[in-house]
Amino acid sequence: MTERTLDAARQEEFAGRMLQVLNDSCLGHLCSLGHRAGLFDVMSGLPPATSARIAEAAGLDERYVREWLGGMTVGGIVEYAPEDGGYRLPPEHAAALSRAAGTDNMAALMQYLAMMGDVEDEVLTAFRAGGGVPYSLYPHFQDVQAEETARVYDAALIDTIAPLVPGLADQLRSGIDALDIGTGQGRAVNLLARAFPASRFVGADISEAGIAVARAEAARWGLDNARFEVADTAELAGSYDLITAFDVIHDLARPARTLAAVANGLRDDGVFLMGEIAASSELSENIGHPLGPTLYALSVFSCMTVSLAEGGAGLGTAWGRQTALRMLREAGFGDVVTREVPGDILNVYYVARKG
Ligand SMILES: C[S@@+](CC[C@H](N)C(=O)[O-])C[C@H]1O[C@@H](n2cnc3c(N)ncnc32)[C@H](O)[C@@H]1O
Repeated sequence: MTERTLDAARQEEFAGRMLQVLNDSCLGHLCSLGHRAGLFDVMSGLPPATSARIAEAAGLDERYVREWLGGMTVGGIVEYAPEDGGYRLPPEHAAALSRAAGTDNMAALMQYLAMMGDVEDEVLTAFRAGGGVPYSLYPHFQDVQAEETARVYDAALIDTIAPLVPGLADQLRSGIDALDIGTGQGRAVNLLARAFPASRFVGADISEAGIAVARAEAARWGLDNARFEVADTAELAGSYDLITAFDVIHDLARPARTLAAVANGLRDDGVFLMGEIAASSELSENIGHPLGPTLYALSVFSCMTVSLAEGGAGLGTAWGRQTALRMLREAGFGDVVTREVPGDILNVYYVARKG
């Protein structure tokens, strides 16, 4: 395109948008820090306070807190009164930033920004040479992931997600065998085991660190019906009435083989509950997705890339409904319905039976 054909207004508008992207990206990093340092939690319990008071309440260094508050103020997250040096986190903002906000806490999600930065050099190398980045190079992956999903499971697993499978709660109450693949730090398994003591639960993951945390939590909660194994989902042993996979299949190196192993490991009337990212397999249908850029960024920096590191399928975070349904069918699931949780823009649940 020559200079004469440029739409000047469009160019100007786009440059402004890019400036906003830069500022918002920086705010995102500051929000991640604020979450990790406990600053939003402290501020949500304080009246307007000076940086010294906030730093003291949070047990942090005042100079750093003051600089962080500067970013929060110019970014419109915190209010500042220059006459008395008071900073205030409005309750409407705390409702999207503090730990007390539970699943509405967006600051917890901002931790993924730093996680992506941790591996940018390695991802760039993979852009040039192919391959991927192994889990071992993500220092915070298990912790960030577990924190993010634990709050969803704490709030919704027993009362909202499990009931997506008709009759499942009754079966769990009577006593069935269940397996969660790619369990991470195992919160889903431990919650189910605590809620349904007559059922027996196994959680499996390749991450030794994740399984160690899962076992420790099961011990702390005194659970004798939850067991955890370091295992590859593509090589499942045993037979189960229920198999779950939450946010796992698209990350795998061998997703087709895993889905076949799941079908094989399910008893005839068993059910596979697959929580996955709510997206379309058609890129054009993901334009306007409320988390669109986040999904593709997480894919490039993590989901697709850990799979490609093992020479895997690299399905990507937005592998989408159409591909998921096809792969479930190919694995032997003849009866699949999709269910959604109202208000959850991230996940879709596939309730799959061999049919
Ligand atoms: C995105 S995390 C989801 C963890 C957990 N289900 C949750 O909801 O927090 C994906 C998990 O899959 C595990 N994983 C990846 N490949 C695996 C494999 N081949 N066998 C077992 N687990 C695997 C990872 O270690 C990681 O814990």
